[in-house]
Amino acid sequence: MDIHDIQIKNNLILAPMAGVADRAFRETCIDFGAGFVVAEMVSAKGFTMGDRKSAELLHLSEAEHPAAIQLFGTSPQIMADAAKRALAFSPDAIDINMGCPAPKVANTGAGSALMKDLPLAREIIRAVVKASEVPVTVKFRTGWDADSVNAVELARICEDEGAAAVTVHGRTRAQMYAFPIDYETIAKVKQSVHIPVIGNGGIRDVQSAVRMLNETGCDAIMVAQGALGKPWIFQQIAAYLNNTIILPDPPPEQQMLYMLRHVQKIVAYKGEKVGMREARKHAAWYLKGTRGAAAYRRKCGELNSLKDLEALAAQVIAQNMQKTQEETE
Ligand SMILES: Cc1cc2nc3c(=O)[nH]c(=O)nc-3n(C[C@H](O)[C@H](O)[C@H](O)COP(=O)(O)O)c2cc1C
Repeated sequence: MDIHDIQIKNNLILAPMAGVADRAFRETCIDFGAGFVVAEMVSAKGFTMGDRKSAELLHLSEAEHPAAIQLFGTSPQIMADAAKRALAFSPDAIDINMGCPAPKVANTGAGSALMKDLPLAREIIRAVVKASEVPVTVKFRTGWDADSVNAVELARICEDEGAAAVTVHGRTRAQMYAFPIDYETIAKVKQSVHIPVIGNGGIRDVQSAVRMLNETGCDAIMVAQGALGKPWIFQQIAAYLNNTIILPDPPPEQQMLYMLRHVQKIVAYKGEKVGMREARKHAAWYLKGTRGAAAYRRKCGELNSLKDLEALAAQVIAQNMQKTQEETE
């Protein structure tokens, strides 16, 4: 698929996830076949006021391209200024967040709250498109709530104002992250605009990925929670879409090695102290579904070093081998 002149390797995209989809996770998902990644959202206001943390979040490594940087805010001018400055980090696209439901974002009128103010949403898109030398994409939900589903209207505004693609998350803001996914509205958006439409929401495995593609006709799919502790989901979806091969989950010992490889990256990029604190939640996600998971996941809160994690992984592998042996005897 192409987003304007950016060629993406395939139509499998890693979603932006604040506090989760950092450089280490994005690189991990790329290793498993994600064709495009979006960095964690950054406040346009904070960034333009010189906030150091925002600038750190915007850093993209060589290995991550093609990648988008995502901005949120309510002021067209500040958003445009932020987009211009963000070009220093060499993004392949700038994504505008119009879907975030978190009160600290939506209560300021940004994120999903912009779906209640389409004239302002239009002004923001126009200003950012004008300021940006790279394609601009917009990510939003189906609407604010079930009584105000207006994704088609917003997608048309995006197209009118020169956006290169839209991502539609098939839930309203009122739904937060709950099911069901509204495939019908995503399909209507696809039928209403000519720019590429990326379908997002509820993709947890190959089946739900195929469902998103088939029910909406979308050009690409974006995976968020389905990749947590399971970055190989991209490989599984690609194997099915390209060759109708159903790849099982990797065996537990392989999963533990993938977890260690991911956490080694976190530690390499953030240092062991900060890195291991952040790695705890990832470790708990990787351990989900393994034998004796509940007890192991409780231990994740105590992980302070890579050595601690290696020891935990070794225990999981040993217990798994023992159980498998018992079962075959
Ligand atoms: C922990 C977390 C952080 C998120 N952060 C962002 C963000 O920074 N920007 C954004 O547009 N969406 C963000 N989202 C929403 C996801 O990108 C995605 O739209 C949503 O989770 C639906 O996809 P899923 O059902 O595959 O999880 C976040 C979601 C989660 C779970």
